Amino acid sequence: MTDLKEILCEKQGKICLIKINKPKVLNALTHSVFVELNSVLDDLEADDEVRVVIITGEGRAFAAGADISFMKDLDAQGAKEFAKHITCVLRRMESLDKVFIAAVNGYALGGGCELAMACDLRIADKHTQFGLPETSLGIIPGFSGTQRLTRLVGLTRAKEMVLTAERINAEESYRIGLVNKIADEGMIMDEAYKMAKKIIKNASIAVSYGKEAINRGIQLDMDSAIDYEKNLFGLCFATADQKEGMTAFVEKRTPNFINR
Ligand code: HXC
Repeated sequence: MTDLKEILCEKQGKICLIKINKPKVLNALTHSVFVELNSVLDDLEADDEVRVVIITGEGRAFAAGADISFMKDLDAQGAKEFAKHITCVLRRMESLDKVFIAAVNGYALGGGCELAMACDLRIADKHTQFGLPETSLGIIPGFSGTQRLTRLVGLTRAKEMVLTAERINAEESYRIGLVNKIADEGMIMDEAYKMAKKIIKNASIAVSYGKEAINRGIQLDMDSAIDYEKNLFGLCFATADQKEGMTAFVEKRTPNFINR
């Protein structure tokens, strides 16, 4: 793994915690944050033990966006390349067979909101504010935020957030389906770990197929998406965990999954 300077990474058995560690600038996202994140993903890809990855930010923000002082002087080509590189890293998170949970502990703005949206699940602190303020800076979201937000909350709310550039609070984010849960004061990491533990109790191949079916299916027409799901459903029956899960149910006991 690359030497980590801007993020911290700590594995505890089946759960890996990634923390963006630039609290003085509210975890403003640079190219190097994503180089480091990508190298953690290399490591996780080769790691069969870790099943859930929790991403959070140090201090009072999850991430207040891409680093504006860096982006300020970019030209059109440089901006496109910057966005392309980061988008590839986010896309990788969506295709890895791990579940990503964003523990959104404060501002999630611009690129920070886009990073949270590339995770599978989001838990927000009561004081969290989400927003895509890019149009107020003369740009549009460039880490695929226009596309992910629309898929998560629908055209109406996505257009309102992108075109007005206004921030929304945790309650509103929950109401529109942008976050899964709002944690009580000081409880965000507990809630994230609680959710991670619920996930790792389940059969790992089934969990990763569930993620894959949803993520791939949403990009396809309905009939192709249903075919995609059916293939993965069939493949579940080639796993030991399907036999164990169903046998355990019939025998009225807790399954002992072996992740195969
Ligand atoms: C660089 C940032 C930053 C950012 C905060 N800081 N956000 N630096 N890029 N996105 C820095 C500030 O300059 C300041 O540094 C320190 O963090 C603390 O921030 P303050 O503004 O003093 O804090 P506060 O008054 O509490 O306001 C918090 C805030 C505000 C509302 C979150 O910082 C803010 O509006 N930030 C920008 C949010 C934003 O527009 N994000 C979208 C970026 S565009 P100093 O050195 O002064 O202490 C984007 C595009 C993605 O993300 C797609 C690209 C392809």
